[in-house]
Amino acid sequence: MVNELELRMCDPQNDMETILNLERSIFRPSEQYTLGFINWLCNHCTRYSYIAYVGKVPVGYIISCIEGFRRGHVVSVGVIREYRRRGIGNALMCKSICSMVEGGIDHVILEVRVSNTPAITLYRKLGFEVRDILRSYYNDGEDAYLMILENRKFEEFIQNCCSITKQPS
Ligand SMILES: CC(C)(COP(=O)(O)OP(=O)(O)OC[C@H]1O[C@@H](n2cnc3c(N)ncnc32)[C@H](O)[C@@H]1OP(=O)(O)O)[C@@H](O)C(=O)NCCC(=O)NCCS
Repeated sequence: MVNELELRMCDPQNDMETILNLERSIFRPSEQYTLGFINWLCNHCTRYSYIAYVGKVPVGYIISCIEGFRRGHVVSVGVIREYRRRGIGNALMCKSICSMVEGGIDHVILEVRVSNTPAITLYRKLGFEVRDILRSYYNDGEDAYLMILENRKFEEFIQNCCSITKQPS
């Protein structure tokens, strides 16, 4: 784990540029979201989205949203290369999903490239399972796995990652 790691909730008024810069340095151009979409996400998903700082340096981010009926959606997560394999991706996932648990979700979904072994390994470790294959989901034609965290694995995640107790439904 990194010393001095701090996860700060996104502030759409001030953090847009930081998120854009992180996105541009983490993802290939073909994988990046448009400025308009990032802007929309920052304004609509603020409560569940975080930037990771080591000291004053932004090193990663996560954007998640609650959609529809009690569904959390991890839309984007990334850590800059030099800071990977130090627990930051894991910390971002825990923080964001736990904040959505406080917001009342009872399951989480995400999409991931079928070739993205690092991310798939991280998600499996947290309890996500492959629910479906989304054919040609990405612009370049690659398929995605639709992964889901639900039921017993969701409860275990809460026990392992979140300090709060889930409210009875
Ligand atoms: C996926 C990503 C966010 C993981 O961030 P990270 O900070 O390196 O992850 P962590 O250090 O918290 O890793 C947690 C666990 O995930 C798994 N993992 C992470 N990177 C891995 C890799 N390169 N190979 C295999 N397993 C990996 C391991 O189980 C790891 O635990 P361990 O280090 O104790 O073995 C990071 O690799 C990344 O930013 N990739 C590019 C952007 C991306 O693909 N985002 C996901 C889009 S869906």
